[in-house]
Amino acid sequence: MAEFTLPKNSRITKGKHFAAKDAKKTRTFKIYRWSPDDDQNPRTDTYEVDLDKCGPMVLDALIKIKNEIDPSLTFRRSCREGICGSCAMNIDGTNTLACICAIESCKGKGEVPIYPLPHMPVVKDLVPDLTHFYAQHASIRPWLRTQTPAPSGRERLQSPADRKQLDGLYECILCACCSTSCPSYWWNGDRYLGPAILLQAYRWIVDSRDEDTGARLDELEDPFKLYRCHTIMNCARTCPKGLNPAKAIAEIKKLMVARKV
Ligand code: SF4
Ligand code: F3S
Ligand code: FES
Repeated sequence: MAEFTLPKNSRITKGKHFAAKDAKKTRTFKIYRWSPDDDQNPRTDTYEVDLDKCGPMVLDALIKIKNEIDPSLTFRRSCREGICGSCAMNIDGTNTLACICAIESCKGKGEVPIYPLPHMPVVKDLVPDLTHFYAQHASIRPWLRTQTPAPSGRERLQSPADRKQLDGLYECILCACCSTSCPSYWWNGDRYLGPAILLQAYRWIVDSRDEDTGARLDELEDPFKLYRCHTIMNCARTCPKGLNPAKAIAEIKKLMVARKV
């Protein structure tokens, strides 16, 4: 069996331990740390958090650590209610949103491991570089593409049934949890669009107001952009919004076949 070893400067080392003082009920978080500003290897620091003085979510613990224990800890967050997608990270082995992940739900009794989203370049600590992911989103031109002029004085209308087609799609917050859980995206992310962007592509393909469906499908007709999905299903299992990108991808593939017959 082939064995792979990380280059020396990528090996994760054991970092510092921050013990809680005068706490009765604690939980320990093991957090990935890496900074581009020094020549150090990545490391994991462990922080004991007093649960009696902390909110219920993992994001509450991270904010408490940053405010009271170690201000150098770096992570993204904004809305703190599962809407902005910025606090996506790998918690307890699963990609999810720190703000809607209850500390109690982390299974292991020991340390709760927290890492950045897998297989992405790291900017610092828990912050992944999503530049390529956003460029892929821009590449599908994610807006209503029409030829007919807009009706004057009102919106382009949709029937309730047509609007319903967007359920399970419009809720996507582009957090990237699904794409960074997908092995096909890990290996071919340079050319494979991945589940998040394909779900977004399908969101525009099925929008009854859009008038560029043919071109949208043409743009996806490519051995890598779409067909690197091998139905592994990690994407649907991990989506913190309960969406099913694999189904959206399957629907696109069905449309590709239907237009050839
Ligand atoms: Fe995040 Fe789910 Fe959208 Fe993927 S489908 S980007 S996991 S909200
Ligand atoms: Fe990946 Fe989901 Fe397809 S995990 S291979 S995008 S079904
Ligand atoms: Fe916005 Fe978590 S802070 S989704």
